[in-house]
Amino acid sequence: MKVYELIKKKRDGLQLSKKEIAAMIDGMLNGQIPDNQMSAFLMAVYFSGMSARECSDLTLAMAQSGEQVDLSAIKGFTVDKHSTGGVGDTTTLVLAPLVAASGGIVAKMTGRELGHTGGTVDKLESIPGMQVELAKDKFIDVVNSIHVSLISQTQSLAPADKQLYALRNVTATVDSIPLIAASIMSKKLAAGCDGIVLDVKTGQGAFMQKYEDALELAETMVKIGESAGRRMVALITAMQQPLGCAIGNAIEVTEAIETLGGNGPPDLVELVTELGGEMLLMSGIASTRAAAQSIIAQNLATRKGLDKLAELIDAQGGDRAVIDNPSLLPQPRMKLEIASERSGYVAAIDAFEVGLVSKILGAGRTTKEGAIDLSTGIYLNKKIGDSVKTDEAIAVFHSDGDNDKIKAAKARFLKAYTILPDRGDLPKCLHARVTSAGVEEL
Ligand code: URA
Ligand code: CA
Repeated sequence: MKVYELIKKKRDGLQLSKKEIAAMIDGMLNGQIPDNQMSAFLMAVYFSGMSARECSDLTLAMAQSGEQVDLSAIKGFTVDKHSTGGVGDTTTLVLAPLVAASGGIVAKMTGRELGHTGGTVDKLESIPGMQVELAKDKFIDVVNSIHVSLISQTQSLAPADKQLYALRNVTATVDSIPLIAASIMSKKLAAGCDGIVLDVKTGQGAFMQKYEDALELAETMVKIGESAGRRMVALITAMQQPLGCAIGNAIEVTEAIETLGGNGPPDLVELVTELGGEMLLMSGIASTRAAAQSIIAQNLATRKGLDKLAELIDAQGGDRAVIDNPSLLPQPRMKLEIASERSGYVAAIDAFEVGLVSKILGAGRTTKEGAIDLSTGIYLNKKIGDSVKTDEAIAVFHSDGDNDKIKAAKARFLKAYTILPDRGDLPKCLHARVTSAGVEEL
């Protein structure tokens, strides 16, 4: 099989067979296909797209390129949640213990920061002592004993995705629906869960800014998962402004603790209730969405999820005292109020920009192996729909005290807020629910 012929076939809009797709992935992994040909192939996929069958075949070839985690030693139905990436997305920290406290089994591998978004692994590492690099046996033991564990995705999970992602990043081929779907689903399938709830974000702070694209991505991923024998559901949710109030690492752990204690910001609580409901429904713990959501709501009110988070921290070597005393988490050297330059109502908050501002303050890596200052981030006092007066603090920066960073961050942050004289409509949190049976607009 000549690689040239396969690139040409895809360029001309023809379909590749399963064997041809596997040959491309194998050839890349064993070094026979150089980066220039692989890049041309990616660009051909970018313009010609892929059929559902081709996309499934690509996903499986990528999933099978490395370790495929065997979770069969875990008793019961394992359920995973995956977000396509947002700003201040504290969801996993709340959802994993909450679903486990509600009877679900959450064996989750999770990632670090990507682009303008943060990563759950980094956030967890702000808890003193917390281990996220557990051996597979230990991971399974923790899940069997407390029904939840969160660990870092291993290096050996879907190595084909790592290579492809690095190429996509430098060839303007990241935002291709079949390539994103295969990238995400290859890791999810290799991670071994029986059921997967996808949170597909749309809006300014998402990788898929347009609703139609988010919908197509959701449908593609649901099909791939179902054809691989997994139970699947996707919710299309808004990433029009950052989620909740906290953006960063330690600051988001604090927000998760508050939310599990019954004092969460309304948008985060709504999203957790929707996604958690889907996870319980899929696990057979409730038989209707309403019943599943009421279990979640009850366990938020009774703080059962907070007790489970304490157990999880304990089981993975962390200091559970942070639950009662979040000031044990890394604290910023300086907290700085950011005053509004005008009065009115918050009409929009550019989530993409706010994500980058948080990274300027120190919450992101500037080099691939660089360190994050876990204490830095942003707390939003004002969200869309809130009234603001001139000189009132719209946010608080958690800073390392570096004045250059603060100056750059502040100018960008103020521009990310749109403040208008009249109050507009509040944004919708939830757009649609996608299953193999079809699309339900919500
Ligand atoms: N997240 C991924 O894992 N892969 C993509 O391609 C985009 C978002
Ligand atoms: Ca948040």
